[in-house]
Amino acid sequence: MTQAANSVRDGFTTSFGVLVATLGSAVGLGNIWKFPSLTGSNGGAGFLLVYLLATLLVGLPVMIAETMLGRAARANAVSTFERVAPRRQWWWPVIGWMGFAAALLILSFYSEVAGWVYAYIFKALAGELATTDPQVAGAIFAGLVADPLASLGWQWLVLGVTGSIVMLGVAKGIEAVTRKLMPLLFILLLVLCARSLSLPGAAQGLSFLFSPDLAKITPAVLLTALGLAFFKLSIGMGCMLTYGSYFRDNQNIPATATRVMFADLSVSLLAGMAIFPAVFAFGFEPAAGPSLVFMTIPAVFTAMPGGTVFMSIFFILTAIASVGAMLSLLEVPVAILAERYALGRKRASLYTILAVAVLGAPAALSSSLTSEIKLFGMNPFELFDFLSSNILLPLGGILICVFVGWVYGLPEMTRQLGNHGELRNQRLIRLVFFLIRYVAPLSIAAVLLHGLKIF
Ligand code: TRP
Repeated sequence: MTQAANSVRDGFTTSFGVLVATLGSAVGLGNIWKFPSLTGSNGGAGFLLVYLLATLLVGLPVMIAETMLGRAARANAVSTFERVAPRRQWWWPVIGWMGFAAALLILSFYSEVAGWVYAYIFKALAGELATTDPQVAGAIFAGLVADPLASLGWQWLVLGVTGSIVMLGVAKGIEAVTRKLMPLLFILLLVLCARSLSLPGAAQGLSFLFSPDLAKITPAVLLTALGLAFFKLSIGMGCMLTYGSYFRDNQNIPATATRVMFADLSVSLLAGMAIFPAVFAFGFEPAAGPSLVFMTIPAVFTAMPGGTVFMSIFFILTAIASVGAMLSLLEVPVAILAERYALGRKRASLYTILAVAVLGAPAALSSSLTSEIKLFGMNPFELFDFLSSNILLPLGGILICVFVGWVYGLPEMTRQLGNHGELRNQRLIRLVFFLIRYVAPLSIAAVLLHGLKIF
């Protein structure tokens, strides 16, 4: 039955295709925009250590569980739960609809940050970012975000580019593009690291990144790290589930997920190694927060020999990373619309892009026209980030864990993850099951309560 479904349904064609597409989803602005700024503002190595634990104990098991559900059902995030849930428990597909909403919300602000990155490629190439003063760099950034037309225009460009790729399909669009982009991304990242590490004074940045100061690990740091692990691995909203539905029948899911996790981690570390040594070598502030990329980085690069070239490489690389991640975000609603409403892939993609353009406009205009519109003290950009990252992702994560750990069960999980007896990985599956049933849902519950400021 899966065989027949496979031949009509689009999907990844090779094992390498599965790997690069999934890695393309995990690697994104999260590695280059969120990871360094959160590491910088949460004290460096201690944060990194907690993030590693969160990724291993929670992130990886949830990623495996999600991918497994998708491949078992070979359907979008909503229909998957209709197929795998027990008949009378009709409420499980709600997880898929939450994912639908989360995808649109994340895309709304993610496409705007990606838009700034695209804009910065051109600014870097034109030499407009050539200043060693973070203050001046800050003013340039403020100028960009305060311009309503530029903000919308860059966002629409990003949506147009990624939307056209998704329209082409899973194999001919997503897989074909990530196959070319991911290797390029690694090459550019290595070039940047070599440059940054060869600067005098780089050692201080490395020690900031690699020698933990355990006193800095507060409960808040713990929870921030767990949230980042979710965002990084694209879990909690059916994204990995949707990609899992395109996996090949004989794909080793635990092995693939582990590889993706390690590769994603390497990208974050390489990005950290490219950024922090340079930040320290030129005496900048590592705790600059979300502005680190757009304000500190131009100044850091301008201060080094060959700066314009390396700055351009940096923003091109970031743009590439954002593409793979956005394709996976778009695929969640596109698959739901295309499969459930028989819309066809082109129309489903078009509707999704239009929805994001509408919902994304207030986010894009958050530093201009909509800056005064506040809910719970947040402008639309911050609100969308908060709603998705702090509420929908953790909630979805808990529900997926509860479903797999308490409803789906170990015997079925063993069949699915062991590829119906083909793989001899029962011990590993039992460990993953234990994490999914107890460890992950409880730790995620802590993140959620923190996100809602309940404690
Ligand atoms: N993981 C991507 C990043 O780090 C972002 C992303 C893609 C994502 N798909 C997702 C985040 C699904 C949450 C859920 O940039």
